[in-house]
Amino acid sequence: MNKKKIHIFDTTLRDGEQVPGCKLNHSEKLKVARRLELLGVDVLEAGFPISSPGDFKAVEMISKEIRTPIICGLSRAIEKDIEVAAQSLKYAKRPRIHTGIGTSHEHIHYKLNSTPEKIIERATRAVKYAKSFVEDVEFYAEDAGRTDNAYLAQVIQAVVNAGATVLNIPDTTGYCMPNEYGAKIAYLRDNVIGIENCILSTHCHNDLGLATANSIAGIENGATQIECTINGLGERAGNAALEEVVMVIKQRYVEQFQVDINTKLLNSISRLVSESMSMIVQPNKAIVGENAFAHSSGIHQDGVIKRRENYEIMDPSDVGVDQSRIVLTARSGRAALAYRCKDVGVDLAKDELDILYPAFIELADSKKEVVTSDLLPLIKSNLGLRA
Ligand code: KIV
Ligand code: ZN
Repeated sequence: MNKKKIHIFDTTLRDGEQVPGCKLNHSEKLKVARRLELLGVDVLEAGFPISSPGDFKAVEMISKEIRTPIICGLSRAIEKDIEVAAQSLKYAKRPRIHTGIGTSHEHIHYKLNSTPEKIIERATRAVKYAKSFVEDVEFYAEDAGRTDNAYLAQVIQAVVNAGATVLNIPDTTGYCMPNEYGAKIAYLRDNVIGIENCILSTHCHNDLGLATANSIAGIENGATQIECTINGLGERAGNAALEEVVMVIKQRYVEQFQVDINTKLLNSISRLVSESMSMIVQPNKAIVGENAFAHSSGIHQDGVIKRRENYEIMDPSDVGVDQSRIVLTARSGRAALAYRCKDVGVDLAKDELDILYPAFIELADSKKEVVTSDLLPLIKSNLGLRA
């Protein structure tokens, strides 16, 4: 079966960097951009060039140095924005202008003070103008998630006719349920003439915790690009997390879809982004959280020690984590204690384990976690010479 290629569009340096406190200086941005290139992203959204001279410079710098992915610059559907985006992308080997406008009732009436007809005109003009600078023009229909599907199809038809190469359908407010978002993509696919010649893109926010599920519903229904960020950074509750969408595809859609991401670099890039943006990754975060491959209850530990796959659906080394962790707490069982003692060079016999275990539980009850440096003293004081 022919696998469908899913393009990974990373917007860590644009949507991710919009987050308060996440601003990066030029050398930090370049460092992240180099790592994204190594990771294998297909498109790198480097910034919003009109927003500040600093952002302009960053996009220009990344355009000069990063040669493999497409380099994308954001703009509103405003001529000046588009001109500045084009200028900042001047040195890019494969430049893309990302332009767009709000299409939901809320945005048209209460943000843009406009009408549905005028929005279609502005969208068309913006795409045509962007096409006068670059061949590759992506259009975003902001708040598409809350936009009526029939009207959205009219907007998208107009921008396809104007020459857009990529059609971004953002769930800007994270409102959609996966079945609704999937149906929206399917509706567009079925009702816009010429859409098959364009890349249809998801851009899902995580306000209800559904960004990854919605992105996957999008590709199940015909989208072939996912916009996402490292660690799920982005406005408010963030965007779909790159590491999540990539691993969902690798784990569950291996026959249907292909992504060209070097997953072994996921953990290290997550740490780089977290450190440079000073945004901690929650320990229970899927794929890259500190506890993503840690086992702490006795039942799970026993199962994992017998066979890793009993409690893990991914091999940690596939995402750049050295190994699963067996964490020693008051919930741990004998198997875990024996396993960790072996790790510090003490192979316990059954009778020794029987002596050591109650002492271990007493210690574990007095602190959150029994760590490696606790083990040898514990063994020594309970089994004497053994350690
Ligand atoms: O969430 C959104 O709608 C966006 C667009 C600017 C693409 O970030
Ligand atoms: Zn966004």
